[in-house]
Amino acid sequence: MPKTKTPSPTLPRSDATSPARFRERLHEVIPGGSHTYAKGDDQFPSNAPPFLVRGKGCRVWDGDGNEFLEYGMGLRAVTLGHGFEPVVEAAARQMRLGINFTRPSPLELECAEAFLEMLPAAEMIKFAKNGSDVTTAAVKLARAHTGRDLVAVCKDQPFFSTDDWFIGSTAMPAGIPEAVRNMTIGFRYNDLASAEAMFSANPGRIACVILEAETIEPPRDRFLHRLRDLCHARGAVFILDEMITGFRWDLPGAQTLYDLAPDLSTFGKAIANGFSVSALLGKRELMERGGLRTDQERVFLLSTTHGAETHGLAAALETIRVYRSERVVEILWRRGERLRRGIEDAVAGLGLDGYFALLGKPCNLVFSVRDRDKRPSQPFRTLFMQELVRRGILAPSFVVSFAHTEADIDRTVDAVQGALGVHRKALDEGVEKYLVGPPVAPVFRPRA
Ligand SMILES: Cc1ncc(COP(=O)(O)O)c(C=O)c1O
Repeated sequence: MPKTKTPSPTLPRSDATSPARFRERLHEVIPGGSHTYAKGDDQFPSNAPPFLVRGKGCRVWDGDGNEFLEYGMGLRAVTLGHGFEPVVEAAARQMRLGINFTRPSPLELECAEAFLEMLPAAEMIKFAKNGSDVTTAAVKLARAHTGRDLVAVCKDQPFFSTDDWFIGSTAMPAGIPEAVRNMTIGFRYNDLASAEAMFSANPGRIACVILEAETIEPPRDRFLHRLRDLCHARGAVFILDEMITGFRWDLPGAQTLYDLAPDLSTFGKAIANGFSVSALLGKRELMERGGLRTDQERVFLLSTTHGAETHGLAAALETIRVYRSERVVEILWRRGERLRRGIEDAVAGLGLDGYFALLGKPCNLVFSVRDRDKRPSQPFRTLFMQELVRRGILAPSFVVSFAHTEADIDRTVDAVQGALGVHRKALDEGVEKYLVGPPVAPVFRPRA
């Protein structure tokens, strides 16, 4: 376990018992043992801390005071760092003034204008709390606008919403009626022919296409632009999901980097440094259907009790300010690039080409770990994460934040070098010899 210790902050009540007991209690009272599947036990090696009690910058501490350098940070939401003072202060100041009134707050207008100023292609915006709220709202608007039922998702991308229209298309569709499942169809990334075939097989039936601008492969041959044009030619709405690319690829997102104007776009995660704020932006013609200035049948668009809590919007405004003044996006790319170079040198030095690879953009690196036959392997992935935990690094990905310094990156590269040394031995001697607990498993699977 990592050596650095700090005094334990306030611990959960059940911490009087061991971490194993704590884990057991979590599973007794919370299905999956966590409120987000991606944080669950089945996603981490058995030596990962069962819970974290505190974070600062890119560091987190478990209940015993063990310190870890972490990557990913709040499922990619905390891009400036944990407890980032200017954002915490902005939110706290607003909390003291009241977080939710019976009429809109001026912050709703201020924040709306700040976003629209960054995205001239969008004319209206609505805030919500989770990414899923806004992707689902985008789909609903598209269906109302086109009078069509089918939704087309990019099959090579992992996630768009916790709602039925998307979960029904995954390997975990239990509880979702067949009729709903059948309304979501798919196409392949960078494969315009697959999208054309999809439209041809469903003439006049596809309401929208939803995708991320990029996950691992970059867009080729103006794929995104051509897909948007295809949507328009076939009367469908083009929705760009910027949940991950937003405030990371660029400010505000991949659509500015790639000079692409979607009909609707969705943001969340990083836009308020981890405070719960998401946003749907788009063309007036579509968005106004949720408003009071339309002659058409109205759409019930994103109306929730906590939808525009003032402290979240204050946090978002401050986050935008910091992104501008500190050139955050540039730092994310630069840190990621340093990490990529360091790790790729380590991989080459250990002769592990083909057995371990970094994928994606420097600002959003993920890793692929392979077995002796160079096939993706969950046991080898788990072993790699286990060896990083031993070296004080918690890394389900290598997604950097603004808080990761060059020294943090270099320390990570050293830890990766050590972890890959074990990977090398496990390739020769068998992964079972080194792996301590069960391997991780995909979130989307029909059986526990
Ligand atoms: C691309 C993408 N879209 C939508 C979502 C849903 O966001 P949320 O978890 O905030 O509901 C996610 C979440 O991981 C995501 O990665």
